[in-house]
Amino acid sequence: MKEKQRKINCIAEMMSLVIATDKKLVAQYFFTLIVSSGVTLMFPKSIEQFSELLSSEQTNAYTILYLEAYWSVIFLFGAICSYIRRLVIEKVDVSIMCALKLKYFKELLSKKYEFFSEEHSGSFSQKLNRDVSEVAHTVTLEFAIMLKGIFLFIGGFIMMINSSFLTLFSVIPITILIFVGRTFSHKLRARRVELSLLNRKLNSYTQDIFRQIRTVKLFLAETLELDNFLSLSKEIQDITISTASFAANFFSILEFTAEILILVICASCIYLTKINPELTLDKLVSVATYGLYCAVGFRQLLAGYAEIAKASGLYESIQEAFNDCRIENIREDERNEEYKGKPVGLMLENVYFKYPNRDNWAIENISFSLKPGEILALVGPSGHGKSTIFNLLTKLYDPTSGKIFLGGIDISNKPSYWVRDQISIVSQDPLLFSGTLHFNLTYSRPQASETEILSCCKRAGLLSFIQSLPDTFNTKVGESGGSLSGGQRQRVCIARALLKNPSLLLLDEATAGLDPRSEQEVQSVLEEEVQQHKYTVIIITHRVSSLSSLADNFALMHLGKLVNYGPYSSFHADKNFISLCKV
Ligand SMILES: Nc1ncnc2c1ncn2[C@@H]1O[C@H](COP(=O)(O)OP(=O)(O)OP(=O)(O)O)[C@@H](O)[C@H]1O
Ligand SMILES: [Mg+2]
Repeated sequence: MKEKQRKINCIAEMMSLVIATDKKLVAQYFFTLIVSSGVTLMFPKSIEQFSELLSSEQTNAYTILYLEAYWSVIFLFGAICSYIRRLVIEKVDVSIMCALKLKYFKELLSKKYEFFSEEHSGSFSQKLNRDVSEVAHTVTLEFAIMLKGIFLFIGGFIMMINSSFLTLFSVIPITILIFVGRTFSHKLRARRVELSLLNRKLNSYTQDIFRQIRTVKLFLAETLELDNFLSLSKEIQDITISTASFAANFFSILEFTAEILILVICASCIYLTKINPELTLDKLVSVATYGLYCAVGFRQLLAGYAEIAKASGLYESIQEAFNDCRIENIREDERNEEYKGKPVGLMLENVYFKYPNRDNWAIENISFSLKPGEILALVGPSGHGKSTIFNLLTKLYDPTSGKIFLGGIDISNKPSYWVRDQISIVSQDPLLFSGTLHFNLTYSRPQASETEILSCCKRAGLLSFIQSLPDTFNTKVGESGGSLSGGQRQRVCIARALLKNPSLLLLDEATAGLDPRSEQEVQSVLEEEVQQHKYTVIIITHRVSSLSSLADNFALMHLGKLVNYGPYSSFHADKNFISLCKV
């Protein structure tokens, strides 16, 4: 019962998408639908009137021409409405599609970061692009077909009743049609959900492969991937075919039942003419045509409903993913300039944190503080919670317990954009967008002036390279920045971070992914930058000794705990620290 109610709610919600579009479009949609269906329903009347002319004694060229002109005007009006209706359907389709995509894109952007780390990005693109388009298209087109079916069915039925009591003979086949329609549409919907899940899996899979194409090639895994792809697409093929055969069954049984309906009506007509000589041929023709409309209308109504029921499975799966409640407010106004470029103090107070899908603490009872402008080196072995601290400082995750203060303010009471406004981060993986250098550099502050861009590129040791390129700042960087070297990509990330004019700069192994020479070059750029800094800095690095004179304090992490904190000189007896220095 609950499942049934959910399905009805889902279908009703989809239908309401049409009503919720532009009021003028909806009015046009219904008006043209009523008129064009009305005109279609008039057609048998026109034939009836023409056949009446045959038997009338007053028929002459003028009366025939008059009747011809009269009906031509009505049908022309119907044709115009039909044209507008088709156009309006397209407009409603595209308007629902754009509105849904915008709504879901905004919802996605508002999700907390942890939501994304659980799902595959391919599955979102498929939902946002293919699934949403399909839902919008089905709901608009099939809703129109359904409504037209309802008009034809009800109109045909009323006209039939008006013409004769033959209508009663159609009750039995119509009942059968309702039963067939209900059973099939329910099963079609379930298959549709299964198919959509598989398609999403294939989409995520191919995205992964092409993102990792270098690894695939270097490990000669083309044949393996081909086999994986084949088995996934075979599954999709099987379900698609079985769904298609299900749908084909549905429509053929429906068609068969509709034809039986017509036959029953015809047989009844013949029988009634035999027993009632007052029934004329023109009346019978018009009753039969209305019967036909009734059957066609009913068929359209069921077919439209079946398609909407099918798409409702898809709609439900989109809703489920987007209804995840882990959301955060996104900034819609300008950046708060109050904090721009002023070094900020920082304090962590008994902070504990566990990742949502893990049982053990990633960090435990961390407390330390930094004065504005201080430089802290965060060191420790791999997997011991250094980057996790950055994840909490940037509010990508919230501490399980404990408090973090930025500039004396508890960040748990502030929206995440308030915190991120003040922080710039450079991480180990220098991933760029596939636009131009200029786009990537100004991503942190699109309104930055040319002088500021030039200055930050200079500070990041990037300017002479950019100026040597034929298209300078308009050079395209390729997918994920693939047409730049690792060192160049990292410098772009540094310049981007500096351009934001942060109050707190976080450097997470910013040189670790580079070859020794680039590492050395980028490291000296960073050291020089940090020495002349106007911000508070936390550096995570494995180059511990190189920071001996640069960092005010060192924090040593071990198994998620802060085991030592103080200036470089205070670590001379710490074995863990000494072994890190050797690395
Ligand atoms: N998104 C995540 N979900 C679940 N566990 C995570 C996640 N990110 C990190 N972890 C786990 O948290 C622990 C600390 O990881 P963290 O990334 O903070 O280590 P790290 O000190 O930065 O290591 P490295 O020096 O290798 O970068 C590890 O055990 C890691 O497996
Ligand atoms: Mg790390």
